[in-house]
Amino acid sequence: MCFFAVWVFLGILLCTPSQCLECPFGCECFAVTRTVKCVSKEILTVPQSIPGYAKAVIITGNNIHQIGPDSFTKMENVTNIILSNNRITDMASHSFSPLIHLRFLDLSENRLALIHPEALSIPGSPLQELNLSRSLHDLPALTDLTTALRWGGLRGLLRLDLSGNHLARLPLGFFSHLPDLRQLFLTNNSLEAVHSGTFSGMNRLELLDLTHNAFVTFGADALLELEKLGNIRILLGCNPYNCSCDIGRFAAWLNESRAQVDLDAVRCASPRGLSGARLPGLSVHAIGCVDPVQTEVADLPLQTSYVFLGLVLGLVGMVFLFVLYLNRKGMKKWIIEMRDACRDVLEGYHYRYEMDSDPRLGHIPADNGGSRRDLGSALPQRLTSDTCIVKPPADTQVKELANSPPVNR
Ligand SMILES: *[C@@H]1O[C@H](CO)[C@@H](O)[C@H](O)[C@H]1NC(C)=O
Ligand SMILES: *[C@@H]1O[C@H](CO)[C@@H](O)[C@H](O)[C@H]1NC(C)=O
Ligand SMILES: *[C@@H]1O[C@H](CO)[C@@H](O)[C@H](O)[C@H]1NC(C)=O
Ligand SMILES: *[C@@H]1O[C@H](CO)[C@@H](O)[C@H](O)[C@H]1NC(C)=O
Ligand SMILES: *[C@@H]1O[C@H](CO)[C@@H](O)[C@H](O)[C@H]1NC(C)=O
Repeated sequence: MCFFAVWVFLGILLCTPSQCLECPFGCECFAVTRTVKCVSKEILTVPQSIPGYAKAVIITGNNIHQIGPDSFTKMENVTNIILSNNRITDMASHSFSPLIHLRFLDLSENRLALIHPEALSIPGSPLQELNLSRSLHDLPALTDLTTALRWGGLRGLLRLDLSGNHLARLPLGFFSHLPDLRQLFLTNNSLEAVHSGTFSGMNRLELLDLTHNAFVTFGADALLELEKLGNIRILLGCNPYNCSCDIGRFAAWLNESRAQVDLDAVRCASPRGLSGARLPGLSVHAIGCVDPVQTEVADLPLQTSYVFLGLVLGLVGMVFLFVLYLNRKGMKKWIIEMRDACRDVLEGYHYRYEMDSDPRLGHIPADNGGSRRDLGSALPQRLTSDTCIVKPPADTQVKELANSPPVNR
């Protein structure tokens, strides 16, 4: 009883009526820490009449679909607002304008689909930290956000969290209106490439987190863009790097860049043989590249020798043709002799064949001397030339044979 009386007395002493009575329904107000909490109370709109002393407002796990210019009036002392996990879909123009001392805004885990271009505008650009982790509902929201970052006057922003938003690409110049940004979190998205201009305009960046994305490698453009950021901390781990020869340039950059990279976490996902291997430890040969300098050196003498061989062959061919030309008369004579010899020997065979196969026709060659040439030319041309040219030494034999039939007869 006595205890209760003391408690009531202290309560009356510590709070002025306005502070004690003004806590909105469903919220807890802590005057000493100047904090108001409205957690998981199925609240449908941002509570009005939040005490003016409040510096931190935590409204999470509710069902607030919309916020607008009337949501945060008379809250000029608020510096921190956590609005995570409230299913917020719409942010209207100048939603946070009354919060002229707002430094920290957490909008993570919402379903933002409609963001007014001036939703984030606050006079004097006091905002230093913006958390939009897992808060964008779809691609149009990204377009909206691009405009909102441009029009929002967030020149004082130091920290931006865009993790877990399924981002597949970043619009060029997305961050160009955030000149003071020091820390950028893009982890757990679906980014595949960095282009030249992706990070332009950020001259004070100290930390860039690109872990848990879809980077297979970084091309020349991307490496130039990353190198422009200077000796900052860049987190590149937990990406599905494809350690084929194409990644050589990136591997070399890892070796020589001024940036401080989380080298231990940069590991290959493919090919299967290198899965899990630290990319910075791999040699150019391990990633299946032939050393470009060596190939050039090795190729040069080979090409020279091919050219030389071609020249020599050409010369030999010309000499051969020239000799043929000089000997054209002898050649002609030789060819005619050969042709006659062939014809004779073939006729001899033909004659003998006819004699052997049909004795009744034995008389035909004898009284048919004029047709000998005809029979010879009736034989397939290919057979004649083949047999003759391939076996010129048969010449003498041929003549003997050619002469033999009349003798035998
Ligand atoms: C903000 O805080 C100051 C000092 O703590 C106080 O005087 C002022 O009344 C507060 N503003 C509101 C709207 O309550
Ligand atoms: C942003 O919010 C998420 C979820 O509420 C949290 O995990 C993350 O650490 C926050 N980001 C920063 C940079 O504090
Ligand atoms: C990445 O994001 C997805 C969906 O946005 C979420 O389900 C998952 O928990 C996140 N993972 C990490 C490691 O944050
Ligand atoms: C890795 O790169 C090589 C060469 O470009 C390609 O043939 C292969 O399909 C890639 N593997 C994966 C998993 O992307
Ligand atoms: C990177 O450096 C390591 C160790 O100094 C070396 O073994 C490797 O070949 C280098 N990689 C590239 C691609 O230059």
